[in-house]
Amino acid sequence: MKLGILVSGRGSNLQAIVDAIESGKLPCSISIVISDREKAYALERCKKHHIPHVVIKRKDFGNVQDFEEELIRSLKEAQVDLVVLAGFMRILSAHFIRAFPMKIINIHPSLTPAFVGKDAQKQALEYGSKITGCTVHLVTEELDSGPVIVQACVPVLPDDTEETLSERILAYEHRVLPQAIRWMAEGRVKVEGRKVQVIGAKYGTLPVNPQLEVF
Ligand code: GRF
Repeated sequence: MKLGILVSGRGSNLQAIVDAIESGKLPCSISIVISDREKAYALERCKKHHIPHVVIKRKDFGNVQDFEEELIRSLKEAQVDLVVLAGFMRILSAHFIRAFPMKIINIHPSLTPAFVGKDAQKQALEYGSKITGCTVHLVTEELDSGPVIVQACVPVLPDDTEETLSERILAYEHRVLPQAIRWMAEGRVKVEGRKVQVIGAKYGTLPVNPQLEVF
């Protein structure tokens, strides 16, 4: 399966995908990485691993539609089978989403539908949640709330700051995102309305024990 990965920043989730591919755990190739920010560290990771990459910036286009047309054009040209939003900090329009129906997934740092949108970890802390986590979901027209493929729970500890909680959640993001992509590549993800069934998978969650293997 050919992946098109959209990023905006650090790219640690991109790195988790690259590591899973390079260690033979993920039967995929990355056809293109697109960043909407020139300075995204994710681009350095692409250079290091010889991954095709391109910068497409919103401000180089007169309107959002033209910007998204260029994203769509690049992804189609790279013949991607799955679009992965891995820390892409823009909301995509219905037009973009309809160009890849049920072929776009996103990683979000909360247990959706709780704490959608920006600063999900801060929202969980401010709410006083005792547990939060991360979600990989199919992208539909509702923000951060498409059908859930896999989630992982992460406890909120009494002394947590936004940074410590984000870091703890991130370690789980790096496990569930390659897992969900692998399920998609294996054709095991069946979607009916809001519900996702992963054929043959025992769990749709990861246990809190970080020692357990994902794959
Ligand atoms: C992650 O927390 C992801 O869940 C969110 O943005 C962050 C991206 O991190 N959507 P990275 O760029 O993958 O390191």
